[in-house]
Amino acid sequence: MNFQLKTLSLVQATADKADALIVLVGEGAVTGKDPLSALLAKVRAAGDLPDKAGKLLNLYLPLADGPRSVVFAAIGDGKDSSVRSAVGAAVSAARAGKPVRLAVVFAQAPTSGALRAAVLASSDACYAYTATKSKAEPNPVRQLIMGVPDAAAVQAEFDTAVGTAAGIEFAKELGNRPANHCTPTMLAEAAQGLARAPRIKCEVLGPKEIAKLGMGAFAGVAQGSNEPARFIVLHYQGAPKTQAPVVLVGKGITFDTGGVSLKPAAEMDEMKFDMCGAASVLGVFRALGELRPAINVVGLVPTCENMNDGKSVKPGDVLTTMSGQTVEVLNTDAEGRLILCDALTYAKRFAPSAVIDIATLTGACVIALGGVRSGLFSPDDELAAALERAGEASLDRCWRMPLDDEYGEGLKSNFADMGNIAGRAAGAVTAAKFLQKFSGDFRWAHLDIAGTAWKSGAAKGATGRPVGLLLNFLLGDPLAQPSAGRTKTGKTAAGGGRTARKTRARA
Ligand code: BES
Ligand code: MN
Ligand code: ZN
Repeated sequence: MNFQLKTLSLVQATADKADALIVLVGEGAVTGKDPLSALLAKVRAAGDLPDKAGKLLNLYLPLADGPRSVVFAAIGDGKDSSVRSAVGAAVSAARAGKPVRLAVVFAQAPTSGALRAAVLASSDACYAYTATKSKAEPNPVRQLIMGVPDAAAVQAEFDTAVGTAAGIEFAKELGNRPANHCTPTMLAEAAQGLARAPRIKCEVLGPKEIAKLGMGAFAGVAQGSNEPARFIVLHYQGAPKTQAPVVLVGKGITFDTGGVSLKPAAEMDEMKFDMCGAASVLGVFRALGELRPAINVVGLVPTCENMNDGKSVKPGDVLTTMSGQTVEVLNTDAEGRLILCDALTYAKRFAPSAVIDIATLTGACVIALGGVRSGLFSPDDELAAALERAGEASLDRCWRMPLDDEYGEGLKSNFADMGNIAGRAAGAVTAAKFLQKFSGDFRWAHLDIAGTAWKSGAAKGATGRPVGLLLNFLLGDPLAQPSAGRTKTGKTAAGGGRTARKTRARA
């Protein structure tokens, strides 16, 4: 879908040749003598459009020329979250009329955050999954015009939002693909496709190289599948090589049966989403390729299936990780941490400013936080605070969880350096404690996205989270770094995030 930002008053909005028009109405006054402003005044005077964000009024427009209908959408106080829900509802409503050219116009000047929320919500509402449907109804909207009173004032923020939307959509699409249409090999091909953009390079390692690196835990999970494992290494270089990169590590289990510790059948189809951490890393790179910020980022994706087979790893087997530490596999369904621990060890070679792993890691995190916030784990207060801010600013929220040493006690094993599970209690935390044993050499954070990466039920599908959070963090969004959150030294956790914002330019 093509996004375009335009300076549009309500008069110009009716003259614009859009098939459908959405007007976002805040609590403040809208004056003007044009027919649309007059209509809006009438509607409000009659109390037919309550101020409550998300309320819609769909009207036929008796104009000689221009769009046939208008959806007035209340955005209430104009907060980012209000705009997001209003635009989502309005675009979904307008989509029913199959508009090819859709205009979304702010009646009052939006904040940059509100504009971004509008772009992301429209992109989300226009998404249609079609890859494996024979009679798919594709998204009708080819062109989405965002109208604001002063386009120049918000152009930069708009461009960032459009790039972010592309990254989120990319992650959603990969997440939604069934496991037989998104194997580790296909995921690696998708990553290689991203390397067509300037500044992005991609390297893909196969089973032989994985074994040679000594990634015994990753190889142990992969050995039960006929699909060969892949280890994807993506580089985005937007700054001099001397600048330390942020490393993103994404869990890429393209299907999780649980292995020998087999999962129950109900809803097992949803375990195709177990590569959403990987998809979010690829989504971030998709956006970086477009936005071209002056930062360095490395993406690491260990990807394989977790299957049961004569060759599968068994409960009690001991695997030797790339770090040299040994792990007793007490439950083959706790496979995410096994593939991630070797990727974390691999991350050390980049001398990173920070390493963030993203994983649909535990059902326990879904119980703890549901689908609202991702779980955030980090022993580093500064890094954790930066990620929390990025989550708030991007409406892709997370919640910091504890990492007290006591939580790690259950990981003891009589036959290896550690087991891969602890008891049932605090399962999201004990999983993070396992990963922490492989993060000693750098600033590290872990995002458990088991509850936020996809929706179940009637709206079943990937969300593209936490691409918004990660990009906000990487780009050093001013909203993510309020002066109150700055450290005395003026350092940013992202290592160059703020410089990136200052010097961001299209190459
Ligand atoms: N991919 C799952 C986590 C998961 C489960 C995400 C349900 C979303 C919904 C992960 O590999 C897993 O199976 N974790 C186990 C760990 C347990 C064996 C310690 C879990 O959460 O049950
Ligand atoms: Mn599992
Ligand atoms: Zn899993």
